[in-house]
Amino acid sequence: MVSYKELGLVNTKEMFAKAVSGGYAIPAFNFNNMEQLQAIIMAAAETKSPVILQVSKGARKYANATLLRFMAEGAVEYAKELGWEKPEIVLHLDHGDSFETCKDCVDCGFSSVMIDASSLPYEENIALTKKVVEYAHQFDVTVEAELGVLAGVEDEVSSAVSHYTKPEEVIDFATRTGCDSLAISIGTSHGAYKFTPEQCTRDPKTGKLVPPPLAFNVLHEVEKKLPGFPIVLHGSSSVPQDEVDTINAFGGKLPDAVGIPEEQLREASKSAVCKINIDSDSRLAMTAAVRKHLAENPSHFDPRQYLTPARENMKKMYIHKIVNVLGSDGKAA
Ligand code: G3H
Ligand code: 13P
Ligand code: ZN
Repeated sequence: MVSYKELGLVNTKEMFAKAVSGGYAIPAFNFNNMEQLQAIIMAAAETKSPVILQVSKGARKYANATLLRFMAEGAVEYAKELGWEKPEIVLHLDHGDSFETCKDCVDCGFSSVMIDASSLPYEENIALTKKVVEYAHQFDVTVEAELGVLAGVEDEVSSAVSHYTKPEEVIDFATRTGCDSLAISIGTSHGAYKFTPEQCTRDPKTGKLVPPPLAFNVLHEVEKKLPGFPIVLHGSSSVPQDEVDTINAFGGKLPDAVGIPEEQLREASKSAVCKINIDSDSRLAMTAAVRKHLAENPSHFDPRQYLTPARENMKKMYIHKIVNVLGSDGKAA
């Protein structure tokens, strides 16, 4: 058993309380490899932003769970080396799908876990979330839960049952589970294709897709029911069109990839939304830079040659999110 406290990590409790009252959101960036982690830490250290390092089940399988944990421990020391005296870094399990996975993460030094039981019937979601909370809280590890199913607008309009979070359930859910934060569904979804072209309009000038707005009414209802309670948005990549264009210009094929407009995330950050999850935008920034570099330098074969611009591009994107979208810069000075 290793406590996250020994690793210099923090849990989300104080961080979220400050973000909710301060009207900003904490970036939760997924990482799977060293370059992503370096870029995240450089961006957070340079902007003095609290940051959540997220590890998914897929990341644990890809990179090895033990190695990722030690990389996060190293990240704290790296942040200090970069001149960030008191780094505020959370190591978080993203979309934990069982009690065992959550327990494993608590036991090996994570400071926060998500139990995603949102696909289970309501009472089963409560029971599993409560079990994780009871375990995690013994070690001061914070727990994110999810209510409502992340789905695109298509599912929303074509399904007889709404997938959005039901505001009338949130008080009962939060009270009975004891969770520390709640991921809700208001129209965001995972990946680089969040809406179909039919759900969007087209900007006549650029020909680009303009997605429909998020269900802010649901968010406001939830906020009214649980004043000050930390709310989380998953699936919040914006799918920057310049990155998509670069990928497509250098041999990629991502037709009509579309994300959540940044103005809407900026608005959400000012509310009780205090954690915003971004993964796909990092994948796009990395892929765009690698494709461009290799196309322009066909003789290069040293990974350091093409991963250096990839890391730079991700860092630029992370800084942009922190400063211009979430507003978390300077909050961990
Ligand atoms: O929520 C999903 C995250 O983007 C993680 O994705 O399961 O492919 O690592 P992954
Ligand atoms: P994106 O696919 O929009 O980046 O969402 C990431 C996420 O929610 C991770 O949990
Ligand atoms: Zn997610």
